[in-house]
Amino acid sequence: MCIIKLSEFRLTKVFQLAEGNSENILILAVETSCDETSAAVVENGRKIRSNIISSQIDIHKKFGGVVPEIASRKHVELIIPVIGQALEEASVSLDQADAIAVTYGPGLAGALLVGLSAAKALAFAAGKPLVGVHHIEGHIAANYLEHENLEPPFVCLVASGGHSHIVYVADYNRFEIMGQTRDDAAGEAFDKTARALGLGYPGGPLIDAQAKKGDPFAIDFPRVHFNDGSLDFSFSGLKTAVLNYLNSNAQKGIEISIPDVCASFQQAVVDVLVQNTIRAAELRGARKIALAGGVAANSQLRNCMKDAAEKIGADMFYPRPLLCTDNAAMIGAAAFYEYKRGNISGLDLNAVASLKLGTACG
Ligand code: KG4
Ligand code: ZN
Repeated sequence: MCIIKLSEFRLTKVFQLAEGNSENILILAVETSCDETSAAVVENGRKIRSNIISSQIDIHKKFGGVVPEIASRKHVELIIPVIGQALEEASVSLDQADAIAVTYGPGLAGALLVGLSAAKALAFAAGKPLVGVHHIEGHIAANYLEHENLEPPFVCLVASGGHSHIVYVADYNRFEIMGQTRDDAAGEAFDKTARALGLGYPGGPLIDAQAKKGDPFAIDFPRVHFNDGSLDFSFSGLKTAVLNYLNSNAQKGIEISIPDVCASFQQAVVDVLVQNTIRAAELRGARKIALAGGVAANSQLRNCMKDAAEKIGADMFYPRPLLCTDNAAMIGAAAFYEYKRGNISGLDLNAVASLKLGTACG
């Protein structure tokens, strides 16, 4: 029987990294934290050689949200073909990859485990270093794929279905959380509001489209700011305000305008996201502001943040919509900067559903 000490395996790999620092680093990355099975090959953290994303949205849509058990099963079915396609499209063999990167948290535990197990198996079989990546770090790094000259420091708003964070990116591997949601994430508020309006799932793009036909000032929905000076967010009261508005009008038999509700709800979310992010940039004297995460695809958020950033003399950065939502290329970009620092994970790396940003992986 062959017994391998996982910690020894990692040390050997770190030593090899230091010796063989080739010019072009190719990272095979895997992402399965929620409902997208994705694999990508990324060159030097900046160039996408392939980015295969198999979305399960059509399956989860009929349940009005992601069903964790179904997500895990689908990942099991798809992970090997998706990785194979990513290598093929990039014209890269497993042997040519310098490292295997994978999201190990936060996310759905069962879903994370599928990608992590596949990545660990590949790393072990091919004798490649494994790089565990924090999902939010990946979202932030999507900006490096889009803007080849973007470098830290900058303030980044990460707003997705599971997170709403204002992060000061001091360096590629150094993050400070300046604010975060105290209840629902911004994307979650979009998804729940869309469900209440009967629009479907995921709610963000559907509300975004409806809002284009509506008046953002038609309904005065609440904008929560904390009076302790905190840059945190709270969106659950806004969601309740929309529900109350819908119920009270239904009781009175008054017909509502869905575009107006969408535009007014969206503006309320955008106003708070923009104001807090701009305050964070002012506090740090940041000249660059980036957006990341699924909600960063929102057209009104992009417009309003751009105007607000201009007023304080800051430049704005955001990835194209495909790189805002979950994808493995962003994990490959983040992994490059971890790899360069020698942050290699052991094969005993576990999935951490509620992983905190800035946690060293090992
Ligand atoms: O980053 P992501 O793919 O997954 C998580 O890590 O959560 O983000 C998905 C979220 C969903 O809540 C979706 O409704 C939201 O991003 N989203 C949007 C838009 N496109 C996606 N929210 C607002 N406007 C959009 N255009
Ligand atoms: Zn995400």
